[in-house]
Amino acid sequence: MNPENVNCNMLAFQAIAWFLKLKEMFISKFGSPPKFYVRAPGRVNIIGEHIDYCGYAVLPMAIEQDILAAVEPLETQVVQLANTNPLYLDFTANAANIQIEKTKPLWHNYFLCGLKGIQERFNLSSPHGMNCLIDGTIPPSAGLSSSSALVCCAGLVALNVNGLTLSKVELAELCAKSERYIGTEGGGMDQSISFLAEEGTAKLIEFSPLRATDVKLPTGAVFVIANSCVEMNKAATSHFNIRVMECRLATKLIAKSQGQDWRNLLKLGDVQTKLGVGFEEMLTLVEKILHPEPYSREEICECLGISLQELRSTILSQNTQDVCSFKLYQRAKHVYSEAARVLQFKKVCDEAPANALQLLGALMNQSHASCRDMYECSCLELDQLVDICLKSGAIGSRLTGAGWGGCTVSMVPADKLTGFLASVRDAYYKTDGQRLGLPKKSLFATNPGGGALVFLEAEKM
Ligand code: GLA
Repeated sequence: MNPENVNCNMLAFQAIAWFLKLKEMFISKFGSPPKFYVRAPGRVNIIGEHIDYCGYAVLPMAIEQDILAAVEPLETQVVQLANTNPLYLDFTANAANIQIEKTKPLWHNYFLCGLKGIQERFNLSSPHGMNCLIDGTIPPSAGLSSSSALVCCAGLVALNVNGLTLSKVELAELCAKSERYIGTEGGGMDQSISFLAEEGTAKLIEFSPLRATDVKLPTGAVFVIANSCVEMNKAATSHFNIRVMECRLATKLIAKSQGQDWRNLLKLGDVQTKLGVGFEEMLTLVEKILHPEPYSREEICECLGISLQELRSTILSQNTQDVCSFKLYQRAKHVYSEAARVLQFKKVCDEAPANALQLLGALMNQSHASCRDMYECSCLELDQLVDICLKSGAIGSRLTGAGWGGCTVSMVPADKLTGFLASVRDAYYKTDGQRLGLPKKSLFATNPGGGALVFLEAEKM
């Protein structure tokens, strides 16, 4: 993608005034105008939670909220980053010496991930510097993928600043990989939808190889995002990586029990592929092989015939080295059942039977129950919000994104939307002083939006 071959459809950017303001701020900050702009959207995942890093397909759509960068390439290697939000402080780096902080990462570290990814991909010995002003409308730590959008935005910025070209698929894969410099072992959903999204359609995102297929959402329903107002930054805690490790350990135990090459298998999806069986068979295997009681590290080492030292150095991530107990049965059950639900959801969308909304709603509700009970990635407020959404007229409602806070997504019959919004506002937002005043930004209907793009200053007006 480069400024010449990107379709710069300015209809997607009705907020000309917003650009003018960003340009003005850029000039007052850096003393010269930006040469180009990049946008990368956030996403809402409709179904398929915590299964992308297990190798399974997910079903997200891009949202209208995005990260926007105004950029001026420099001949030097100085990277000057600024943010329109005064909470995010300016940062200066040398493009040839990028350092990424992993513990409690500040905003600019996500930008640096994208930069570093491009530099490594092209083995750039003297990368260009830049002046860059970032703006954004995605609420942070809300499960709508603000951090991945920032990484994707930075990847696209670095690509263009250095006069390089990559396809959207290559960019998505590169950004998924480079976001891991922050320390979280995410899958590729967020980066893939940020690049591969197209207006008007949700996407089934499949991995290895990465590909995106249109999913036509049912007519007659609207998808509504509601923020629980509980913030969750997945890089600041080990919740996320513990789940990734639990799935990895479950993979190894199942693979070993079936005589597979367990040392080389990392994902629950890989063991299913090796065994060549369906989801039902995998769920039966889980029942047979794994027990519901948590596994101690010692038990895992015994099952795999390895030492604690080997477990730590070859399997566990840096921030899970000291975790003592792992729930393997529950996590594997969630993953195999959720992966099956994604394919069922897509099938119902494709076939559009008369009772499509009921079927889809039931799948979303099962997904939430499994996230809550088996994957334990919900929280009290998310569960309350899901309940309120269902009582307010949603046919299906579930947490979206990593969980432990952040947003829910609900499927609401279009003719019930107004009443639904009023009822959720009264029951969730107006009952809590801190949430009062937030509903406008925290509760909104959304349509599938377009993916990341670049446009030149000259093309903007
Ligand atoms: C985060 C990760 C994704 C995915 C979701 C959970 O957003 O970045 O890769 O694992 O959590 O579905």
